[in-house]
Amino acid sequence: MKNITVIGAGTMGNGIAHVFAQYGYAVNLVDVNSAQLEKAKQTIEKNLDRQVTKGAITAEVKASTLANLSLHTDLAEGGKNADLIVEAATENVDLKLKIFQQMDAVAPENCILATNTSSISITKIAAVTKRPEKVIGMHFMNPVPVMKLVEVIRGYSTTDEVTKVVFDLSRSLEKVPVEVNDYPGFVANRILMPMINEAIYTLYEGVAGVEEIDTVMKLGMGHPMGPLRLADFIGLDVCLAILRVMHDGFGNPKYAPCPLLVNMVTAGKLGDKSGEGFYRVDKATKETTVAPTFKK
Ligand code: CAA
Repeated sequence: MKNITVIGAGTMGNGIAHVFAQYGYAVNLVDVNSAQLEKAKQTIEKNLDRQVTKGAITAEVKASTLANLSLHTDLAEGGKNADLIVEAATENVDLKLKIFQQMDAVAPENCILATNTSSISITKIAAVTKRPEKVIGMHFMNPVPVMKLVEVIRGYSTTDEVTKVVFDLSRSLEKVPVEVNDYPGFVANRILMPMINEAIYTLYEGVAGVEEIDTVMKLGMGHPMGPLRLADFIGLDVCLAILRVMHDGFGNPKYAPCPLLVNMVTAGKLGDKSGEGFYRVDKATKETTVAPTFKK
Protein backbone atom coordinates (compact mmCIF):
# COMPACT_ATOMS: atom_id res chain seq x y z
CA MET A 1 0.00 0.00 0.00
CA LYS A 2 1.60 3.20 -1.17
CA ASN A 3 -0.73 5.07 -3.51
CA ILE A 4 -3.99 6.32 -2.05
CA THR A 5 -6.66 8.18 -3.99
CA VAL A 6 -9.28 10.17 -2.09
CA ILE A 7 -12.42 11.24 -3.96
CA GLY A 8 -14.18 14.39 -2.75
CA ALA A 9 -12.41 17.46 -1.37
CA GLY A 10 -15.02 18.45 1.24
CA THR A 11 -14.48 18.33 5.01
CA MET A 12 -14.07 14.56 5.25
CA GLY A 13 -12.10 14.18 2.01
CA ASN A 14 -9.54 16.80 2.95
CA GLY A 15 -9.17 15.30 6.43
CA ILE A 16 -8.64 11.78 5.02
CA ALA A 17 -6.13 13.05 2.43
CA HIS A 18 -4.34 15.01 5.18
CA VAL A 19 -3.90 11.95 7.41
CA PHE A 20 -2.71 9.57 4.65
CA ALA A 21 -0.23 12.18 3.35
CA GLN A 22 1.00 12.90 6.90
CA TYR A 23 1.81 9.20 7.38
CA GLY A 24 3.88 8.96 4.20
CA TYR A 25 1.41 7.74 1.57
CA ALA A 26 1.34 9.31 -1.90
CA VAL A 27 -2.12 10.84 -2.04
CA ASN A 28 -4.12 11.92 -5.08
CA LEU A 29 -7.05 14.07 -4.00
CA VAL A 30 -9.74 14.12 -6.70
CA ASP A 31 -12.69 16.49 -7.08
CA VAL A 32 -14.53 17.69 -10.18
CA ASN A 33 -14.41 21.23 -8.77
CA SER A 34 -10.90 22.74 -8.98
CA ALA A 35 -11.80 25.63 -6.66
CA GLN A 36 -12.87 23.07 -4.03
CA LEU A 37 -9.53 21.29 -4.46
CA GLU A 38 -7.57 24.50 -3.86
CA LYS A 39 -9.72 25.27 -0.82
CA ALA A 40 -9.07 21.75 0.53
CA LYS A 41 -5.32 22.23 0.16
CA GLN A 42 -5.52 25.52 2.07
CA THR A 43 -7.53 23.83 4.83
CA ILE A 44 -4.96 21.04 5.07
CA GLU A 45 -2.16 23.64 5.33
CA LYS A 46 -4.04 25.50 8.05
CA ASN A 47 -4.65 22.31 10.03
CA LEU A 48 -0.99 21.28 9.62
CA ASP A 49 0.03 24.71 10.96
CA ARG A 50 -2.22 24.12 13.94
CA GLN A 51 -0.51 20.76 14.56
CA VAL A 52 2.95 22.37 14.25
CA THR A 53 2.00 25.16 16.69
CA LYS A 54 0.71 22.58 19.20
CA GLY A 55 3.94 20.55 18.83
CA ALA A 56 2.03 17.53 17.49
CA ILE A 57 4.16 17.43 14.31
CA THR A 58 7.38 19.10 13.13
CA ALA A 59 7.73 21.63 10.31
CA GLU A 60 9.46 18.84 8.29
CA VAL A 61 6.38 16.62 8.61
CA LYS A 62 4.22 19.52 7.46
CA ALA A 63 6.46 19.94 4.38
CA SER A 64 6.51 16.21 3.58
CA THR A 65 2.72 15.98 4.02
CA LEU A 66 2.17 18.73 1.47
CA ALA A 67 4.76 17.18 -0.87
CA ASN A 68 2.87 13.84 -0.71
CA LEU A 69 -0.34 15.47 -1.90
CA SER A 70 -1.42 15.92 -5.56
CA LEU A 71 -4.66 17.44 -6.78
CA HIS A 72 -6.69 16.08 -9.72
CA THR A 73 -9.98 16.96 -11.36
CA ASP A 74 -10.01 13.75 -13.44
CA LEU A 75 -10.76 10.48 -11.67
CA ALA A 76 -9.21 8.36 -14.43
CA GLU A 77 -5.90 10.21 -13.99
CA GLY A 78 -6.06 10.41 -10.18
CA GLY A 79 -7.09 6.76 -9.69
CA LYS A 80 -5.10 4.86 -12.32
CA ASN A 81 -2.22 3.82 -10.00
CA ALA A 82 -4.17 3.52 -6.75
CA ASP A 83 -3.72 0.67 -4.25
CA LEU A 84 -6.73 2.01 -2.34
CA ILE A 85 -9.40 4.53 -3.31
CA VAL A 86 -11.41 6.12 -0.52
CA GLU A 87 -14.60 7.78 -1.72
CA ALA A 88 -15.72 10.72 0.43
CA ALA A 89 -18.18 12.47 -1.87
CA THR A 90 -21.54 13.95 -0.85
CA GLU A 91 -23.84 11.54 1.02
CA ASN A 92 -26.11 10.84 -1.95
CA VAL A 93 -26.75 7.25 -2.96
CA ASP A 94 -27.08 7.82 -6.74
CA LEU A 95 -23.90 9.88 -6.81
CA LYS A 96 -21.97 7.25 -4.84
CA LEU A 97 -23.16 4.42 -7.11
CA LYS A 98 -22.06 6.40 -10.17
CA ILE A 99 -18.65 7.17 -8.65
CA PHE A 100 -18.12 3.50 -7.69
CA GLN A 101 -18.85 2.40 -11.26
CA GLN A 102 -16.23 4.89 -12.46
CA MET A 103 -13.75 3.84 -9.75
CA ASP A 104 -14.21 0.18 -10.72
CA ALA A 105 -13.53 1.03 -14.37
CA VAL A 106 -10.35 3.08 -13.81
CA ALA A 107 -8.69 1.43 -10.79
CA PRO A 108 -6.07 -1.33 -11.09
CA GLU A 109 -7.45 -4.86 -10.65
CA ASN A 110 -6.10 -5.31 -7.11
CA CYS A 111 -7.15 -1.91 -5.84
CA ILE A 112 -9.44 -1.88 -2.80
CA LEU A 113 -12.45 0.43 -3.14
CA ALA A 114 -13.48 2.00 0.17
CA THR A 115 -16.25 4.44 1.01
CA ASN A 116 -16.44 6.89 3.88
CA THR A 117 -20.23 6.75 3.77
CA SER A 118 -21.85 7.40 7.14
CA SER A 119 -24.93 5.27 6.46
CA ILE A 120 -25.38 4.01 2.89
CA SER A 121 -25.25 0.21 2.49
CA ILE A 122 -21.77 -1.07 1.56
CA THR A 123 -23.42 -4.12 -0.01
CA LYS A 124 -25.52 -1.90 -2.29
CA ILE A 125 -22.44 0.11 -3.33
CA ALA A 126 -20.41 -3.09 -3.88
CA ALA A 127 -23.15 -4.53 -6.09
CA VAL A 128 -22.53 -1.96 -8.85
CA THR A 129 -18.86 -3.02 -9.15
CA LYS A 130 -17.21 -6.12 -10.60
CA ARG A 131 -15.18 -6.56 -7.39
CA PRO A 132 -17.67 -6.65 -4.47
CA GLU A 133 -15.19 -8.66 -2.40
CA LYS A 134 -12.82 -5.66 -2.48
CA VAL A 135 -15.39 -3.05 -1.46
CA ILE A 136 -15.43 -1.95 2.18
CA GLY A 137 -16.55 0.91 4.43
CA MET A 138 -13.81 3.05 5.98
CA HIS A 139 -15.75 5.52 8.10
CA PHE A 140 -13.52 8.25 9.51
CA MET A 141 -14.79 10.77 12.07
CA ASN A 142 -14.63 14.56 11.87
CA PRO A 143 -12.11 16.16 12.49
CA VAL A 144 -10.18 13.31 10.86
CA PRO A 145 -6.67 14.36 12.02
CA VAL A 146 -7.91 14.29 15.64
CA MET A 147 -10.46 11.48 16.00
CA LYS A 148 -8.94 8.02 16.59
CA LEU A 149 -11.76 5.83 15.29
CA VAL A 150 -12.10 4.18 11.89
CA GLU A 151 -15.38 2.25 11.72
CA VAL A 152 -14.58 -0.56 9.25
CA ILE A 153 -17.75 -1.87 7.66
CA ARG A 154 -17.81 -5.23 5.92
CA GLY A 155 -20.25 -5.57 3.07
CA TYR A 156 -21.95 -8.89 2.37
CA SER A 157 -19.07 -10.06 0.13
CA THR A 158 -16.05 -8.25 1.68
CA THR A 159 -13.26 -10.79 2.28
CA ASP A 160 -11.23 -11.35 5.48
CA GLU A 161 -8.10 -10.49 3.52
CA VAL A 162 -9.41 -7.07 2.43
CA THR A 163 -10.65 -6.35 5.97
CA LYS A 164 -7.19 -7.17 7.35
CA VAL A 165 -5.47 -4.85 4.85
CA VAL A 166 -7.80 -2.00 5.88
CA PHE A 167 -7.20 -2.73 9.58
CA ASP A 168 -3.41 -2.66 9.09
CA LEU A 169 -3.67 0.51 7.04
CA SER A 170 -5.80 2.26 9.68
CA ARG A 171 -3.29 1.30 12.38
CA SER A 172 -0.46 2.70 10.23
CA LEU A 173 -2.27 6.07 10.53
CA GLU A 174 -2.31 5.62 14.34
CA LYS A 175 -6.08 5.13 14.19
CA VAL A 176 -8.08 2.43 15.95
CA PRO A 177 -10.16 0.32 13.52
CA VAL A 178 -13.35 -1.37 14.74
CA GLU A 179 -15.10 -4.01 12.63
CA VAL A 180 -18.85 -3.72 12.21
CA ASN A 181 -21.45 -5.30 9.94
CA ASP A 182 -23.45 -3.64 7.21
CA TYR A 183 -26.80 -2.55 8.70
CA PRO A 184 -28.34 0.95 8.52
CA GLY A 185 -26.31 3.52 10.49
CA PHE A 186 -23.66 0.86 11.24
CA VAL A 187 -22.75 1.43 14.92
CA ALA A 188 -21.54 5.05 15.21
CA ASN A 189 -24.58 6.73 13.73
CA ARG A 190 -27.11 4.17 14.96
CA ILE A 191 -26.27 5.36 18.45
CA LEU A 192 -25.26 8.98 17.81
CA MET A 193 -28.16 10.09 15.59
CA PRO A 194 -31.01 9.02 17.90
CA MET A 195 -29.27 11.03 20.64
CA ILE A 196 -29.02 14.11 18.41
CA ASN A 197 -32.63 13.64 17.23
CA GLU A 198 -33.81 13.34 20.85
CA ALA A 199 -31.94 16.54 21.76
CA ILE A 200 -33.76 18.30 18.89
CA TYR A 201 -37.11 16.91 20.13
CA THR A 202 -36.25 18.17 23.62
CA LEU A 203 -35.76 21.67 22.18
CA TYR A 204 -38.85 21.37 19.92
CA GLU A 205 -41.06 20.42 22.87
CA GLY A 206 -39.75 23.34 24.92
CA VAL A 207 -38.21 21.22 27.65
CA ALA A 208 -35.07 23.39 27.63
CA GLY A 209 -33.12 25.86 25.48
CA VAL A 210 -30.19 25.19 23.13
CA GLU A 211 -27.43 26.05 25.60
CA GLU A 212 -29.17 24.29 28.48
CA ILE A 213 -29.48 21.01 26.52
CA ASP A 214 -25.85 21.16 25.43
CA THR A 215 -24.62 22.07 28.90
CA VAL A 216 -26.46 19.09 30.43
CA MET A 217 -24.74 16.70 28.03
CA LYS A 218 -21.30 18.37 28.25
CA LEU A 219 -21.07 18.74 32.00
CA GLY A 220 -23.35 15.87 32.97
CA MET A 221 -22.07 13.23 30.56
CA GLY A 222 -18.58 14.51 29.74
CA HIS A 223 -19.25 14.95 26.00
CA PRO A 224 -16.77 17.35 24.36
CA MET A 225 -19.63 19.08 22.50
CA GLY A 226 -23.34 19.13 23.29
CA PRO A 227 -25.57 17.24 20.80
CA LEU A 228 -27.00 20.41 19.19
CA ARG A 229 -23.54 21.92 18.73
CA LEU A 230 -22.36 18.59 17.32
CA ALA A 231 -25.34 18.44 14.93
CA ASP A 232 -24.32 21.88 13.56
CA PHE A 233 -20.71 20.67 13.27
CA ILE A 234 -21.70 17.49 11.37
CA GLY A 235 -24.27 19.34 9.19
CA LEU A 236 -28.03 19.21 9.77
CA ASP A 237 -28.60 17.92 6.22
CA VAL A 238 -26.20 15.03 6.93
CA CYS A 239 -27.99 14.23 10.24
CA LEU A 240 -31.35 14.25 8.45
CA ALA A 241 -30.09 12.04 5.62
CA ILE A 242 -28.69 9.48 8.09
CA LEU A 243 -31.91 9.41 10.15
CA ARG A 244 -33.89 8.84 6.94
CA VAL A 245 -31.65 5.92 5.94
CA MET A 246 -32.24 4.32 9.36
CA HIS A 247 -35.97 5.10 9.33
CA ASP A 248 -36.35 3.54 5.86
CA GLY A 249 -33.94 0.67 6.57
CA PHE A 250 -35.49 -0.53 9.84
CA GLY A 251 -39.05 0.73 9.32
CA ASN A 252 -39.04 1.68 13.00
CA PRO A 253 -40.68 5.02 14.00
CA LYS A 254 -38.03 5.59 16.68
CA TYR A 255 -35.71 6.85 13.92
CA ALA A 256 -38.25 9.35 12.47
CA PRO A 257 -36.52 12.75 12.21
CA CYS A 258 -37.86 15.55 14.42
CA PRO A 259 -40.04 17.97 12.37
CA LEU A 260 -37.86 20.86 13.59
CA LEU A 261 -34.79 19.24 11.98
CA VAL A 262 -36.72 18.78 8.72
CA ASN A 263 -37.85 22.42 8.78
CA MET A 264 -34.37 23.75 9.46
CA VAL A 265 -32.87 21.79 6.55
CA THR A 266 -35.70 22.95 4.26
CA ALA A 267 -34.96 26.54 5.31
CA GLY A 268 -31.27 26.10 4.42
CA LYS A 269 -30.13 26.29 8.07
CA LEU A 270 -27.57 23.51 7.80
CA GLY A 271 -25.29 24.33 10.73
CA ASP A 272 -21.65 25.47 10.50
CA LYS A 273 -21.44 25.03 6.72
CA SER A 274 -24.26 27.55 6.11
CA GLY A 275 -23.28 29.80 9.04
CA GLU A 276 -26.39 29.00 11.09
CA GLY A 277 -28.17 26.04 12.67
CA PHE A 278 -28.89 25.87 16.38
CA TYR A 279 -25.96 28.28 16.70
CA ARG A 280 -24.60 31.08 14.55
CA VAL A 281 -20.92 30.82 13.67
CA ASP A 282 -18.95 34.01 13.10
CA LYS A 283 -16.96 33.36 9.89
CA ALA A 284 -13.95 35.42 10.99
CA THR A 285 -13.63 34.54 14.68
CA LYS A 286 -15.37 31.08 14.57
CA GLU A 287 -17.18 32.19 17.71
CA THR A 288 -20.58 30.54 18.23
CA THR A 289 -23.73 32.09 19.74
CA VAL A 290 -27.23 30.66 19.97
CA ALA A 291 -29.12 31.41 16.71
CA PRO A 292 -31.62 34.28 17.05
CA THR A 293 -34.64 31.94 16.51
CA PHE A 294 -33.70 30.00 19.64
CA LYS A 295 -32.77 32.93 21.87
CA LYS A 296 -35.07 33.23 24.85
N1 CAA B 1 -6.94 19.27 12.24
C1 CAA B 1 -5.92 19.10 13.10
N2 CAA B 1 -6.03 19.31 14.44
C2 CAA B 1 -7.22 19.70 14.91
C3 CAA B 1 -8.33 19.92 14.07
C4 CAA B 1 -8.15 19.68 12.69
N3 CAA B 1 -9.17 19.82 11.79
N4 CAA B 1 -9.38 20.31 14.83
C5 CAA B 1 -8.96 20.34 16.10
N5 CAA B 1 -7.64 19.99 16.16
C6 CAA B 1 -6.82 19.81 17.35
C7 CAA B 1 -6.46 21.09 18.04
O1 CAA B 1 -5.29 21.65 17.52
C8 CAA B 1 -6.29 20.65 19.48
O2 CAA B 1 -5.00 20.05 19.65
P1 CAA B 1 -4.33 19.81 21.13
O3 CAA B 1 -5.18 18.79 21.85
O4 CAA B 1 -2.97 19.33 20.82
O5 CAA B 1 -4.39 21.15 21.81
C9 CAA B 1 -7.33 19.55 19.64
O6 CAA B 1 -7.62 19.09 18.32
C10 CAA B 1 -8.58 20.08 20.28
O7 CAA B 1 -9.06 21.18 19.52
P2 CAA B 1 -9.42 22.61 20.11
O8 CAA B 1 -8.55 22.91 21.29
O9 CAA B 1 -9.45 23.57 18.98
O10 CAA B 1 -10.92 22.48 20.52
P3 CAA B 1 -11.66 21.47 21.45
O11 CAA B 1 -10.85 21.05 22.62
O12 CAA B 1 -12.96 22.11 21.65
O13 CAA B 1 -11.84 20.18 20.52
C11 CAA B 1 -12.95 18.85 18.96
C12 CAA B 1 -12.44 20.24 19.28
C13 CAA B 1 -11.78 17.90 18.76
C14 CAA B 1 -13.72 18.97 17.64
C15 CAA B 1 -13.85 18.35 20.15
O14 CAA B 1 -14.83 19.31 20.45
C16 CAA B 1 -14.53 17.05 19.87
O15 CAA B 1 -13.96 15.99 20.00
N6 CAA B 1 -15.83 17.11 19.48
C17 CAA B 1 -16.62 15.94 19.14
C18 CAA B 1 -16.33 15.58 17.72
C19 CAA B 1 -17.12 14.40 17.27
O16 CAA B 1 -17.97 13.85 17.95
N7 CAA B 1 -16.84 13.97 16.04
C20 CAA B 1 -17.56 12.89 15.42
C21 CAA B 1 -18.70 13.47 14.62
S1 CAA B 1 -19.61 12.21 13.84
C22 CAA B 1 -18.80 11.92 12.42
O17 CAA B 1 -17.83 12.51 12.08
C23 CAA B 1 -19.30 10.83 11.59
C24 CAA B 1 -20.61 10.87 10.98
O18 CAA B 1 -20.88 9.97 10.24
C25 CAA B 1 -21.62 11.93 11.18
